[in-house]
Amino acid sequence: METLTHTQVRDYYGTTLQSAGDLKTSACCPSESVPEHHRPILSLLPDEVLAKFYGCGSPIPAALDGATVLDLGCGTGRDAFVAAALAGPAGRVIGVDMTPEQVEVAKRHREAVADALGHPAPTTEFRLGLIEDLGALGVEDESVDVVISNCVLNLAPDKEPVFREIWRVLKPGGELYASDVFADRRLPEAIRRDPVLVGECLGGALYTEDFRRLMARLGWADVRTVAESPITVEDPALRDALGAARFVSRTARAFKLPGLVEDACEDYGQMATYRGGVEGQRHAFVLDDHHTFEAGRPALVCGNTAAMLQETRFAPFFDVTGDRSTHFGLFDCAPAPVGGGAATESCC
Ligand SMILES: C[S@@+](CC[C@H](N)C(=O)[O-])C[C@H]1O[C@@H](n2cnc3c(N)ncnc32)[C@H](O)[C@@H]1O
Repeated sequence: METLTHTQVRDYYGTTLQSAGDLKTSACCPSESVPEHHRPILSLLPDEVLAKFYGCGSPIPAALDGATVLDLGCGTGRDAFVAAALAGPAGRVIGVDMTPEQVEVAKRHREAVADALGHPAPTTEFRLGLIEDLGALGVEDESVDVVISNCVLNLAPDKEPVFREIWRVLKPGGELYASDVFADRRLPEAIRRDPVLVGECLGGALYTEDFRRLMARLGWADVRTVAESPITVEDPALRDALGAARFVSRTARAFKLPGLVEDACEDYGQMATYRGGVEGQRHAFVLDDHHTFEAGRPALVCGNTAAMLQETRFAPFFDVTGDRSTHFGLFDCAPAPVGGGAATESCC
């Protein structure tokens, strides 16, 4: 299972990089703004953890209270600690990373962070190993509510075993919520083998359409984009090596809903109304980049969206009416109308 890429990536994150200031590109720098309610939590975290943060987004979804969260490639633990704060004392966060220098920092700070969060005991644990083989690290089938990952999946030389493991460990209705780097094309061998470009999270970036195909094959037929922004490469030599390829940092979410999510949005006449109450999204709940549900305002939704709201941890926050007994054809993807009506048309 261990490959040359694993060794090179481990060297990059264990030895070459000492802090985010050593990065050569903006690929492993956060492109999304930090949600407002995460800021007070971040202010409690040790400087060392924050200085060695190499994430490219903000992959910590809402409604984590009491959840079991698995952070793949947790590094020094920044996201795992934020997730632990949001999951509360009844939650549990497992961080997995293959680089000893990274995991050591996270382990060293877990007691102090638990104290700072006011938890009676640490709810985080950090395990050294490969995200391709979570079974070897004792992560059981259907034991996890939410898998998060920040700028890591691109680093896996073979993505399929990682996504298979994620599907295996997620409970039905569980969620993968990850920020990662994607390319607008399949990258040539020279880029994929360059240790610096790989280490900087560019060389191993998946072509967006191949990611969609892989996910669909493994059961995730409808992966939603939450946020996306372009990555700029300022270093002239690296820019030249990358040629015309363009990269984005994207936060995506996908739910394990076997048999409930189709490869296109279908219209069953279902309506969803957000009841409110999700921390940080009290007035409007953002499912993805084209679904924002205002509290109290009914919206027409496709069958896939209905399942994502009804068969997951979001169910207590939504009233979903209708079922799949009558099919009205493909879901109309027209943009939501402006202004108030009894029902808002959503898009899929
Ligand atoms: C770009 S850093 C991101 C770290 C962390 N998520 C953060 O936001 O700071 C990538 C991390 O993924 C880890 N990693 C890469 N490939 C891995 C693999 N196959 N198995 C386990 N960890 C891996 C590296 O050791 C490194 O700590």
